[in-house]
Amino acid sequence: MCGIVGYVGPRDCSDVLVSALTKLEYRGYDSAGIAVFENGKIEVAKSKGRLTDLVAKMEKEGKPSGHAGIGHTRWATHGEPSDVNSHPHSGRRVTIVHNGIIENYKQIKKFLIDNDRTEFLSDTDTEIVAQLLDYYYDGNPVRCIRKVLHEIRGSFALGIVFADRPETVYAVRCESPLIVGQGMGEAFIASDVPAIIKYTKDYYLLEYGEIAVLKNGSASFCNLHGRMIEKELKTADFDEDSAEKGGFEHFMIKEIHEQPTAVKTTITPRIEDGMPNLSECGITPETLKSFKNIFIVACGTAMHAGMVGKYVIEKLARVSVTVDIASEFRYRDPLLNEDDLVIIISQSGETADSKAVLNLAKEKGAKTLAVVNVKGSSIARESDMVIYTHAGPEIAVASTKAYMVQLSVMYLLAFEMAYAKGRIDEKECRRLTAELVKTPEIIERAISLEYNCQYISTKLITADSLLYIGRGLDYALSMEGSLKLKEVSYIHSESYAAGELKHGTISLITEGMPVIAVATQTSLLEKTVSNIKEVKARGAMTIVICDEAAEFDNDAADYTIRIPKISEVLMPMIATVPMQLLAYYTSVNKGNDVDKPRNLAKSVTVE
Ligand code: AGP
Repeated sequence: MCGIVGYVGPRDCSDVLVSALTKLEYRGYDSAGIAVFENGKIEVAKSKGRLTDLVAKMEKEGKPSGHAGIGHTRWATHGEPSDVNSHPHSGRRVTIVHNGIIENYKQIKKFLIDNDRTEFLSDTDTEIVAQLLDYYYDGNPVRCIRKVLHEIRGSFALGIVFADRPETVYAVRCESPLIVGQGMGEAFIASDVPAIIKYTKDYYLLEYGEIAVLKNGSASFCNLHGRMIEKELKTADFDEDSAEKGGFEHFMIKEIHEQPTAVKTTITPRIEDGMPNLSECGITPETLKSFKNIFIVACGTAMHAGMVGKYVIEKLARVSVTVDIASEFRYRDPLLNEDDLVIIISQSGETADSKAVLNLAKEKGAKTLAVVNVKGSSIARESDMVIYTHAGPEIAVASTKAYMVQLSVMYLLAFEMAYAKGRIDEKECRRLTAELVKTPEIIERAISLEYNCQYISTKLITADSLLYIGRGLDYALSMEGSLKLKEVSYIHSESYAAGELKHGTISLITEGMPVIAVATQTSLLEKTVSNIKEVKARGAMTIVICDEAAEFDNDAADYTIRIPKISEVLMPMIATVPMQLLAYYTSVNKGNDVDKPRNLAKSVTVE
C-alpha cells in the first residue's frame, strides 16, 4: 500500500518522480505528491486523486524544477483522501513520504503536543513522523533518523529530505519494501523495482533498519547503529517491456496473455528428466515425506490457489491440508508444531497478514515454505524454503498470471509429494508431469476463446448480483472466478458449492440472475448439471464452463464456454482463463478502471 520514490541526479527530478510513480500506482491511487529541491528550497506539489490529477495541477500551477526529491502515491490508511492528507508531509525543516503505518502515532502526537509542537495540518500518521524528525533534528540527518526509528513502531519505509541538506535524499526501511536504484551518475529509491527499470536495472535491496543516503548520484548505507555498510548490487531479471502494456489496452489483459510463458518459465527449471524436481528450492523427497500436516495460508487470490493445492495434494499425496485466510489464521491460536509444514503463498511477498503467519509458524517450530513471485521480498527471505514463481512483474491489481503460476507450483508440489510418499508410482508421476508440461499450450488455446467470453460478458453488465458454482476442484476454482469478477466489475458475486445451494442460497435466484457454473470434473458433471437445472428452473441465466467434450442436456445452459481438455486434475489451470476473461470484459464493458479497481491496492502491507 502506497508507493514511494526518490531521485538524485542530472535529469529533471519532477519528471523522473512522476514517471516512477506511474509504475507504482498499483500500490495505491487516491492521491499523489512530490517534493523537489528547487534552487536549494523544498517545493511541494500534491493533489487528491490519480497521478494524472497531480500532473494536471502541476501543468496549471507549475511543477517544481530541480534534481533531487521524493514522491508518493497513496492508499489512505489514516485520514480520507484529500489534498491536505496527501504526501509529502512536512515538519519545519523536514519533508517525508511514507509507505506503511505508524502504530504508536497517537502517543507520539501526545508527546509532541506536550512539547509545544502543535502545528498539525493533516489526519495522517505520516505527519507525526515528519514533526518528530523535525523535533529531534540537530543538523545530523542520519543521527536524527536513527533516533526516530527507536521511537516509532509499525511497518514502514520512508523517503526524507532535510531543508538544509539540498540535493540529498535519505531513505529508511522497516518492514515495508524499499530498494535503492543505481544508475550512471544518478540514484533512486522506490517501493518496487519496476518503478525505476526504465532508468536502471541495478539496485540494492534495503534490509530492516537500514538507512540510505543518496547524494551526488550515488548511494551510501548505514545500519540502525549508524555503522557504514557495504551492500550487494543486484540486477533485475526483467526489462522495461515487462512493466509496460506492450500494445494491450490494460495490464490485466496483457497479463492474461502472458500466462502460457509464465507457466513455462515457472515449471521448466523444476522438471528434470520428466519428473518434478524441487531441489533447487531446497525441497527434497525426504523433506516432503516428513510432514504430518500441511497448512496453506495466504490472502485473496493466493489463498484461492491454496484451495486448489489442498484438493490436489490431498487427492494425490493423501496428506491432510488445511487452507486458511492469513488474517484469520494468525489470531486463531492454530495447532501447529515441528512436524507441520506451513506454505505461505504470496505474489508480492510483502502482505502483512501472510508475513505475520510466517512469523507465527516459525515461533511454533513448524517448517515454512514460501511460494512467492517478487524476488527478495520479506516472505521469500524469511522462509525456510522458497519456490519462486516466475510470472515477472504483475502490475494489474487483479491477479491473473500470478494465480496461474501459483497453481502450477501447487501441482509440482503435489506430484513430487505423492511420488515421495509412494502414493503414485513413477509412471503416473511422469504422466502427470507430462500433462503439466502441456498446460502452456492448452492455456494458449483457452485464451483464444477471448471473443466468446467478451460476448458473454455483455450479458453480465446489467446484473446486480451473480453466483459462481462448482463441485470439488471446480468449487475451489469458482472462488477465484467470483473474486476476480467482483473486484473489477463491481458486481456482487458469491462462489458456492453447487450441492449446498438448496440449503439456503437458492432463495436468492430471481429471473435473469446470472449463475456461472464451472463443470470440468467429469465424475461430478451429472450432479452439477442437476444443480444448474435447479437454478435455471427458477429463472437463472446459466453460463456453463466445461470441457469441449462434456455431454449434458443442451437446455441446461443459456451460454456455454467449452475449454480444451487436459487431465481432469489439471483442468483448473485451463478453466481459470475464461473466468479471468469474463471478469476483464465485464469490467471493460462497464467502463471501469480495470487495472486500478476502486478502493483496492495491489500490495496489502497493512493489517
Ligand atoms: C486479487 O486479485 C488481489 N490482488 C488480492 O486478492 C491478492 O491476491 C491478495 O491481496 C494477496 O496478495 P499477495 O499475493 O501479494 O500476498
